[in-house]
Amino acid sequence: MRHIPVLLQETLDGLKLRRGDSVLDATSGSGGHGEALLSHIGRSGTLICLDQDEDALARSRLQLDPLPGTKKFVHGNFRDLAQLLSTEGITEIDAALFDLGMSSEQLEESGRGFSFLKDEPLLMTMQKGATLSAKDLLATLSESQLMDILQSYGEEQFAQKIAHGIVTARKEDPIESTTALVRIIKESTPPWYSKRRIHPATKSFQALRIAVNDEYSAIDEGLESAFTLLKPGGNIAVISFHGGEVRHVKSFFRHFKERSLTRVNKHAIKPSRTEMRENPRARSAQLFIFKKAI
Ligand SMILES: C[S@@+](CC[C@H](N)C(=O)[O-])C[C@H]1O[C@@H](n2cnc3c(N)ncnc32)[C@H](O)[C@@H]1O
Repeated sequence: MRHIPVLLQETLDGLKLRRGDSVLDATSGSGGHGEALLSHIGRSGTLICLDQDEDALARSRLQLDPLPGTKKFVHGNFRDLAQLLSTEGITEIDAALFDLGMSSEQLEESGRGFSFLKDEPLLMTMQKGATLSAKDLLATLSESQLMDILQSYGEEQFAQKIAHGIVTARKEDPIESTTALVRIIKESTPPWYSKRRIHPATKSFQALRIAVNDEYSAIDEGLESAFTLLKPGGNIAVISFHGGEVRHVKSFFRHFKERSLTRVNKHAIKPSRTEMRENPRARSAQLFIFKKAI
């Protein structure tokens, strides 16, 4: 299933792009937002497409390469933005977009264990071939470290029970597949927890993915670098999908508001009912627009 870009029109309205702008798409994914960004900056503009997942970058290249305008495809983590862009000879940008989290293709087709609905190896690595995987964490962390991850990154109410279930189960067999982990989560939580609309493994999977990819530090460092590279008057759009991401985005703003960063919208922008109906993945999205003062 091709990824549908979330809050597309609202993002374009917020970024206020002009012909000839240099725009960073820090999470290029399948190129959905990128395509719209390109059409706004025109032939004289430059779109920098960054993604840490080589497969995602290949997808966005396939999508965007045939379109008019200059594109640069950069493989890497946005936490290393300053260095990655300087290697490309880019020292300033007019605007930036961070559409956080995962794409539909990563969830459904990557085979890396992001989905609790598939039977896959428990890797959860956004960067293909990364050395640390979810199964390593499940094999090596102590019960209290696992509980901490489930609690702080997933806000999982049964963190203690699930961590205990993991440590007990791994004494018998290594936990190496999504199916094995889902079974442990179901066995460690009360029956009613599996009967709700939300799958009982949702929060644990989110927590492990955040830990494996060190997502929160990457957000802090990536946003700070984007702010430094941004020209005065330029905008940064950030789309976040859960409370933990929102907290880091807000803390970025608090940190930089003394240094000429303003919030364009008082409240986070959320998808319309129509968008949520057409693209259920958009349900939890929140868009923040920040402006660097002139
Ligand atoms: C929600 S998808 C972006 C979808 C894209 N906006 C589109 O319309 O197709 C998020 C993408 O960001 C990438 N990503 C997440 N964290 C990243 C990071 N720290 N550095 C670089 N890319 C990252 C993921 O690999 C994924 O491809």
